Amino acid sequence: MAKIPQQLVEEVRERVNIVDVVSPYVQLKKQGRNLFGKCPFHEERTPSFSVNEEKQIFHCFSCGRGGNAFSFLMEVENISFPQAVLKLAPQAGVDIDDSYLDNQSNVQVDSETKALRELYAEATKLYHHLLVNTDSGEQALAYLTSRGLDESTIDAFMLGYAPEGNILYEYFQTQKIDYQLLRKSELFVEWSDGSLHDRFTDRVLFTIRDSSGHPIAFSGRKLTSDDDIPKYVNSPESPLFNKSNELFNLDLAKDTIKKQKTVILFEGFMDVIAAFQSGVVNGVASMGTSLTVEQVQQLSRLADKISITYDSDMAGQKATKRALDLIAQHSRLSTQVIHIPDNQDPDEYLRSNDADAFKQVMTHNIEDPVTFNLRYLQIDRNLNNQTEFFAYISDALGVIATVEEPVVRERFLRQMANEFELSYEALQDQIRPLLLRRQAQQPSNQRYQQQKRANDSSQAYSNTSNVTVKRNVSRVEKAEQILFAWMLHDNDVWLQVTNYAGFSFQDVSYETLFMIAMAYRQEHQQEPINDMAAFMDYVQKPELTRILASLADVDPQLFNDRDQVVEYINVINNEAPLEERIRQLSREIKEANQLQDKARVAQLSVTYLAALKEKQSKNTKH
Ligand code: UTP
Ligand code: MN
Repeated sequence: MAKIPQQLVEEVRERVNIVDVVSPYVQLKKQGRNLFGKCPFHEERTPSFSVNEEKQIFHCFSCGRGGNAFSFLMEVENISFPQAVLKLAPQAGVDIDDSYLDNQSNVQVDSETKALRELYAEATKLYHHLLVNTDSGEQALAYLTSRGLDESTIDAFMLGYAPEGNILYEYFQTQKIDYQLLRKSELFVEWSDGSLHDRFTDRVLFTIRDSSGHPIAFSGRKLTSDDDIPKYVNSPESPLFNKSNELFNLDLAKDTIKKQKTVILFEGFMDVIAAFQSGVVNGVASMGTSLTVEQVQQLSRLADKISITYDSDMAGQKATKRALDLIAQHSRLSTQVIHIPDNQDPDEYLRSNDADAFKQVMTHNIEDPVTFNLRYLQIDRNLNNQTEFFAYISDALGVIATVEEPVVRERFLRQMANEFELSYEALQDQIRPLLLRRQAQQPSNQRYQQQKRANDSSQAYSNTSNVTVKRNVSRVEKAEQILFAWMLHDNDVWLQVTNYAGFSFQDVSYETLFMIAMAYRQEHQQEPINDMAAFMDYVQKPELTRILASLADVDPQLFNDRDQVVEYINVINNEAPLEERIRQLSREIKEANQLQDKARVAQLSVTYLAALKEKQSKNTKH
């Protein structure tokens, strides 16, 4: 297996923003220079996980984990380095071939999983066979045909029929399949005497496949309109089936989603299948209405945009609202809502119209999230009632205030003014405090959306790095950067600094680099360190080599006046007492934690938080 060329790796690293990589996993809030959140690697109540957007690194004060975007993904997803690079490549607009993946290490499947997969594959085949080839499946087949499905669709989705009785159990008995394995498969219900019985009886079966196409669960639909029995019976969770992770049809839709960068999210199996048959093949279903964070994250790895096409009934609208919020919170996917006319679900619409009409709807009946939300806020409200009307206006302004672009905001405000015969100026006055509050909080998530939109509109998605906001570098940081660059460059300065009693770098990364440089100089008897590339290889850790790379930006002119060395040392020693106090406290908390001294941890934490607050207020004052 070939290695991913270094140049591509670097391209990806430079183009992705670690904030975007981390944000689906951690809710980040800006605090001073950094973004803070709860560490995803361990339980904690107060945030000690920070992301430095400028340095493109993360660091957890509590567990000490730290690194760059790649190392974050590797750790959080438990994947290899090439897998992490490949995962981020689309986001960076870099095209890297899948063949770089080490397939062997990638799909190491334990024997139980293998055996269970085989059972599901067998069951799928049996049920499908019963549906299309046998008398017992005749009625079910007629049912599916009456719902407009043709033969090739039924085959493509491996739809099946589970008859009355115990046919699957008996089938596996003839193959002498182990009882425990059958139990684990959840294909059967277990009676109190331990006997197993087919879970699905007299139902049409939709096969749920994982993203690689292995059948892992079934959902059985009743054939009648009998209200006394549930419409669908679903497989419970099993070693193969983690419901909140799966999306129906992701395996077949994946390639198109990647190509079109768009995914259509439906509610139900039949919506996906009917759309597929009409040529819309990038649809998946959340199987019911409760979209999960995991599902959102999966989709955000493949697509840039998601079209929510839920049923137009009230439940569907509620679910749409929930999905929009969830997606905005946990991904940078842009969203739109497709509105199916006549209170129908997509499948019903397709049956009463044709494929062309459906495609028209998919491309024209589009609402942006703000418009959807404004409409949603009107549902169940009597706008003729003064109180309810003003409550609506207030909520609606809250929605409009989330829009970043002033021009777009203005358009919504003008629309609102027209629609309700209000003065535009009054609306402007009323929205102003909301905007100010938003700016003060500036939830990190919104910034991604903003960046994302900026990218989308300029059609230059790959230029993420161009819109990354450069933060002001503090004096201490600047001093550390210049001084360290100077030390590596000039041996006298190296000696001067190392002989300065009590000096240390405030920034953990610089302090670490300093120590590594010391070891390197000893090993290589090289003074000063001239070959930076070689030193980088020695350092290895990407987050540190990245900092070394930034030293190249330091203007060598600054190395002329030797008196400045002491100046820098003073800045670093004297101007960062707060930062240092915070670091010291965090070290002490860690030690107390290790000693399981809970009282001390609690006491230190109070001081620690106070220090963080102080730092925060200082930063906002500047
Ligand atoms: P719907 O009730 O909208 O069903 O549920 P549907 O998709 O329109 O089904 P048809 O057209 O009547 O056959 C939407 C989805 O919610 C899940 C299924 O995935 C279904 O496709 N669901 C619904 C269940 O899992 N269990 C239920 O009892 C109902
Ligand atoms: Mn339906």
